[in-house]
Amino acid sequence: MAENDEQIVTAGYDLVFAALPRSATFARAWRAHALGDDFPDGFEHISFVTLDEMRTIAREMGIGAGDAFGDLACGLGGISLWIARETGARLTGVDISASAVAGSRARAEAQGLAGAARFVHAPLAATGLDSGALDAGMSTDALQYVPDKRAALREAARVLRPGGRMVVTCFEADAERVAGLPVLGSDPAGDYRPLLDEAGFDVTSYEETPAWRERLTRTYQAVADERDALAREMGEAACNALLGEIVLTLQVRPYSGRVLFAATKRE
Ligand SMILES: C[S@@+](CC[C@H](N)C(=O)[O-])C[C@H]1O[C@@H](n2cnc3c(N)ncnc32)[C@H](O)[C@@H]1O
Repeated sequence: MAENDEQIVTAGYDLVFAALPRSATFARAWRAHALGDDFPDGFEHISFVTLDEMRTIAREMGIGAGDAFGDLACGLGGISLWIARETGARLTGVDISASAVAGSRARAEAQGLAGAARFVHAPLAATGLDSGALDAGMSTDALQYVPDKRAALREAARVLRPGGRMVVTCFEADAERVAGLPVLGSDPAGDYRPLLDEAGFDVTSYEETPAWRERLTRTYQAVADERDALAREMGEAACNALLGEIVLTLQVRPYSGRVLFAATKRE
């Protein structure tokens, strides 16, 4: 089941990440509804992280020049590359999608950050990073897709040094609504705190992010309304992969919350 879920996620994101740079329509819709005017150019993402949240994530990780931090499920690396630039810390991004890793490397080059960042193609449950290699970790809007959340959080704890900080945004699942769905229904978490405790973290803050449902619905509806333009610009297969998830999310309403939490790996 876990392997099948990972294959579904990989196939979809590989298509989407390879095609997104061709779509001005997607970029316009995401900027208007998810990113906001103040979001820094060149560091765009496909999640719901705001500039305020990026600042909170950087502050809560507590990193500075020369520290090592990880971005677990980094996508195209926009958020963590911005944090690397602002803090002077060194980034290791991990993602299960080869297109994400290639896109992150290209973006690091384009932003003059190639010397400060490396990207690893791996699932979160088995990153291949050395134990205790990271001073801090982050993950944005991705944990809900991970088929074995205990394994992924155990792995996050393993690669962090004792006392290292982990800062995450992610969606909590509504167990009844995701029952039977691939990926979101495999290992649904309605509250990540017990899993964090089990993995060896002390949770220091755990909060629902403001107006997340309105932002998600508005953004996804705006993208879904552009189907024809997206299919022209991205190609049918990538457009279907993108809209498959978006339409399912609009119809099923699988999430009960979107949270931002910070935790410390126990000594
Ligand atoms: C919505 S995107 C968010 C990407 C990025 N964090 C951002 O905020 O732009 C979700 C990401 O999670 C990655 N992902 C999903 N399941 C994964 C897993 N089991 N291991 C590693 N990456 C995974 C996907 O490939 C994708 O890049």
